[in-house]
Formats: sequence, structure tokens, C-alpha cells
Amino acid sequence: MSSSDHIHPIFDSTLGRESKERLLNQKGCVIWLYGLSGAGKSTLAAAMEKTLHQKGVFTQLLDGDNIRSGLNNNLGFSDEDRKENIRRIAEVAKLFARCGIVTLTSFITPTRSLRSLAREIIGQEDFHEVFVTCSYATCEKRDVKGLYTKARAGEIKHFTGKDSTFEPPAEAAPADLTLDTDLLSEPECLQALGDFIDKHIGLEAR
Ligand code: ADX
Repeated sequence: MSSSDHIHPIFDSTLGRESKERLLNQKGCVIWLYGLSGAGKSTLAAAMEKTLHQKGVFTQLLDGDNIRSGLNNNLGFSDEDRKENIRRIAEVAKLFARCGIVTLTSFITPTRSLRSLAREIIGQEDFHEVFVTCSYATCEKRDVKGLYTKARAGEIKHFTGKDSTFEPPAEAAPADLTLDTDLLSEPECLQALGDFIDKHIGLEAR
């Protein structure tokens, strides 16, 4: 017996997305920020959420460390667990987006195949990929959480960018937006991200 036996989804009879978007007067989407730990994803996502909120946009932020202390607290950093982490987040983000909520996510999402998985689950239309990039050396210098020092001392296994792969997007398939936090200040990144989101969710027209 498979795990889907005796399961009868009621997708067809649940209240439609359009009704919810009309109620909120906005369109749902997922802004998927990814990049190394310490690159600036969470900082940018949190600041962006506040700015959007002030503009009257209804948002939800899903962030790596928060989700890993709740919904995904049974997952570690093996390839298999990272895949399950991203699969669950993408499913949750999809639920939010389909309620008309502008959903910001902040996860390392280290490989192209994981980003493809998220895109596949959420759907091409709703999925907007934002690469928050900066060098390993800079992240190590910032070391906001002290993890880079621990990784250097061999105290953390499978650390992304050190002994666990981080794949930047392929040159032929860049992210929808790239923010290089080695080069741009936080306000500059926020401006670019804000412009990108405004364009995609049609805030300009509101
Ligand atoms: S992902 O690879 O599965 O997308 P996720 O974004 O959820 O990762 O979690 C990353 C956060 O977990 C990091 O910002 C860091 O605070 C913490 N962390 C703990 N161990 C590791 C590790 N081995 N590699 C990367 N991040 C780690």
C-alpha cells in the first residue's frame, strides 16, 4: 500500500485563489532568496517584509533558522535532509502564495536541482528566484552567527561552501535577480529588491 492510498484531496471544492486575491487586493507570489549562510538573505528578507507591510502589502516570511527550529526541527544538513527541507518549505510557500500572500523565503537552497524542485512545486508563474551572493571569504569575515569559525575548527559537518556544495546559478540560466552584497550596500540591495518585487506584484499599478 502506498502512502497516497485512501487519500482524497478536495482541491476542486476549496475556495479559489482569485476570491482571496480580490479580498486582499493583491497577487500572491514567492520571492525565493538563496545563497550562502551570512550572505545577507535573512537581513534583506526581514527588512523587505517591513517595507512591504508599510506599503499595505500582506506578506509572510519563511526563514531558514526559524523553520528549522519548528516545522523542520527533525532535519539536518545531509543532502537528503536539505532536499526534504526545501520540499516542505516550497509546499508551504505555495499554500501562502495561493492565498494571495507575498511570500518571502530565505534558505541557502545550495544546488540547482533544489532550486528546480522549489520552482516545480510552487509553479513557474509564482516563483521568483533571487540570488544573494557574496564570497565565502566575506561571509567568513562577517561570521554573524559564529558558524564559520566553528566550521574552520571542524566543529560543524556538511558546512555549506566548505565541505558541502554550493552551486551558483548556471551562466546560461541566471537568477531572476542577483544581489551581490560584496559590492552593494544594504540600502542599495533593498532598493533593487523592492523595485523587482513592485514590478512582479504590480504594486506600481495600485
Ligand atoms: S538549506 O541548505 O537546507 O537550504 P537552510 O537555509 O534551511 O539550509 O539553513 C541554513 C542555516 O542553518 C544557516 O544560516 C545556519 O544558521 C544554519 N546551519 C547549521 N548548520 C549548517 C551547515 N552545516 N551548513 C549550513 N548552514 C548551517
